[in-house]
Amino acid sequence: MKNIKAIIFDAYGTLFDVNSAAEKCKDKIGNKWEDFANYWRTTQLEYTWLRSLMKRHKDFWQVTEDSLDKSLKAFSIDNSMRNELLNLYKILSPYKEVPEVLKTLKEKKFKLAILSNGTPALLNELVKNNNLNNIFDDIFSIEQVGIYKPDFRVYEMPIQKYDIKKNEVVFLSANTWDVSGGGNYGYNSIWVNRNKNIFDNLDFKPNFEIKNLLELVSLI
Ligand code: LAC
Repeated sequence: MKNIKAIIFDAYGTLFDVNSAAEKCKDKIGNKWEDFANYWRTTQLEYTWLRSLMKRHKDFWQVTEDSLDKSLKAFSIDNSMRNELLNLYKILSPYKEVPEVLKTLKEKKFKLAILSNGTPALLNELVKNNNLNNIFDDIFSIEQVGIYKPDFRVYEMPIQKYDIKKNEVVFLSANTWDVSGGGNYGYNSIWVNRNKNIFDNLDFKPNFEIKNLLELVSLI
């Protein structure tokens, strides 16, 4: 990868651990906490895709609440857990190498940005709570275009703001479909495969696959 000007990160699942909210409640939820967390996440994403296709946009926080309500029912978890889980979702933990890697990249003078389905308020809170507020040049939220990933208008936002070419961007996501979305748009897309997952068959293969963000530093 040459002439890279901007490094753009997906937020949920890539910088911040989406399962950490349910994990913090595992004493109350029991052994099923991980299946429940995965179901909640899958339902949340399905709702973003379905709402985009139906042209019935609701913001990511509302979609997170709607998908939680279905998931609590599906796993017979008492509704009294609802507020606790939602509050924890606002303060998700970053993966452990994330703060250190972002600081290293910042010193190398790349533009650093988040590009996410999250609302501006949610993303700003997440960044602030995790002491990452001085790192990013921009936090791009899909609310600016009113449609969810992988619509191409989402991936276009940083290109327009920075006036750079698609192949001058490195885009990182742990979500396979988001890697395909960014790659299909024209980014250099890197798959952060933390859990030995299998990639999608969506006519795009990632430019690189890494196990965590530490490996990114030696790639660029
Ligand atoms: C995001 C979701 C895809 O942050 O994880 O956009």
